[in-house]
Amino acid sequence: MINSRASIDKLIDIVRQGGKVKTGIDIYNSKGVLLLEKDIVVNRVKTLEIIKDEGFAYLPLNSDNYGGIWDSEGNHIQLDELDDPKAKPSSSPSSMDQGDNDRGSSLKDETGTSRPGGTRIGGTRIGGIEKRLKEIDAFKRMAAEKYAMSKKQAQKVLEDIKSSGGHFDYEAVEQNMTQMVDFFKVSENPFSYLNRDLFRYDDYLVSHCINVCAIGSAMLNRFNTSFSSSVNRYIATAFPENVSPAPQSAPKKSQGSYQCYLKDDIQDITVGFFLHDIGKVMIPESVLYKKGKLTAMEFDMIRKHSYQMGTAIIEKNRISNSVVRNIVKYHHAALFDGEKRCYPGDLPPSEIPLYVKMCKLADIYDAMISKQCYKEAYNPINAVTDIFRKYAKKDHMLQFILHAFVKSIGIYPTGSIIYLMNGQMAYVLESSGPLVLPFTDRTGITLTSASEPIDLGDKKLDQNLKADSFRSIQTPVEVHDRLPAYLKSAVTEESSL
Ligand SMILES: [Fe+2]
Ligand SMILES: [Fe+2]
Repeated sequence: MINSRASIDKLIDIVRQGGKVKTGIDIYNSKGVLLLEKDIVVNRVKTLEIIKDEGFAYLPLNSDNYGGIWDSEGNHIQLDELDDPKAKPSSSPSSMDQGDNDRGSSLKDETGTSRPGGTRIGGTRIGGIEKRLKEIDAFKRMAAEKYAMSKKQAQKVLEDIKSSGGHFDYEAVEQNMTQMVDFFKVSENPFSYLNRDLFRYDDYLVSHCINVCAIGSAMLNRFNTSFSSSVNRYIATAFPENVSPAPQSAPKKSQGSYQCYLKDDIQDITVGFFLHDIGKVMIPESVLYKKGKLTAMEFDMIRKHSYQMGTAIIEKNRISNSVVRNIVKYHHAALFDGEKRCYPGDLPPSEIPLYVKMCKLADIYDAMISKQCYKEAYNPINAVTDIFRKYAKKDHMLQFILHAFVKSIGIYPTGSIIYLMNGQMAYVLESSGPLVLPFTDRTGITLTSASEPIDLGDKKLDQNLKADSFRSIQTPVEVHDRLPAYLKSAVTEESSL
């Protein structure tokens, strides 16, 4: 409960003279970024100046949670002393009880004043970054709604299959995916903004259906655009006589225009991505979520989730769509000749449809960056690098798909944790840029107040603030304790949806 507040200018004066402040409540800015944790004792003027720069004229104090103000000798300062313009900070009996001035002011009232123009950091106007942060926040809210909707559907499909021995409402999935196709078209990989639960895996299958659908769709749209335009360029160069110049008024792609996947194809493929692992429902949870090493028989059972159990569910529901069937059956097939531990092996990689190959990459990536019963969640930046190394330069078409994968996920995927050259750790808020938020100092100790985000794409960026590609964190859980509260809570928000 916030039961008082103090002028930030007066608090700065007190701290400047050696005093201390503890708010007893987390202080966030208008973008939801934590500026000051409730338990941190502030004894640096700079911390308060940063908060003041965020537009705060007053700081709320929660005495119920040991918030308060102390002078340089450790004596508690009553708020009424501060409110007297003539009163200087002075000693008073040390006590956690304090005055109740300005009761009723809410934290919300104190936030939201952003600076016009912004502050300059590493050559970047923060005003531009603030705009992006606001967009990210708005986008996260929208993505969370869509995610919740998809999660309900995925849960229902999996529960129906389980309870009925294989039946589910395929038409309802198709209908839902119609909306999702449009959403994925305008927002690339939207669910990457919803941070992952690093400690739970019991919900993995549900989340995985949705994540593979989103990641696969982002790749599909990227691939479709870049591959289609490459083919069009080739046609225009190799067969110029076949490309008649379109009249000014006509749509550009009236003639000679090639599009790899049409709208209906994309709809079918998205449904397939969503349903790719339905066969796993038929595997007992004791095997699916077994922590120890699988026996040969258990491993064989898991392999069958695609080409045997998944296919059986498709048949049971009389789904004649070959795209969905191919994805369910072949999403663990080899992507290049000689790839090991792939199944089934009844088709050579050259005959596996491209959209199935996209599903496989999305599947591997999501499995790597998720917490599972047998492993921790992998840092997304490492997952992208590993996948790229494994599948690069195998064949031309796979290279196109891989390119679409890396472009849509980003070299620095949202949610990754990286080192900066100066030794700070930073959280990737957005892969575009990328935009990162440092959360430790140079020695790895968590910052007590939030720092400004940095745009790593800024060409004028200080060398020390660039990403250090020679240091990496394998699993985000390793540094979870060092994540500030506002990033920790973000990590678990998905689980509450
Ligand atoms: Fe699978
Ligand atoms: Fe999967």
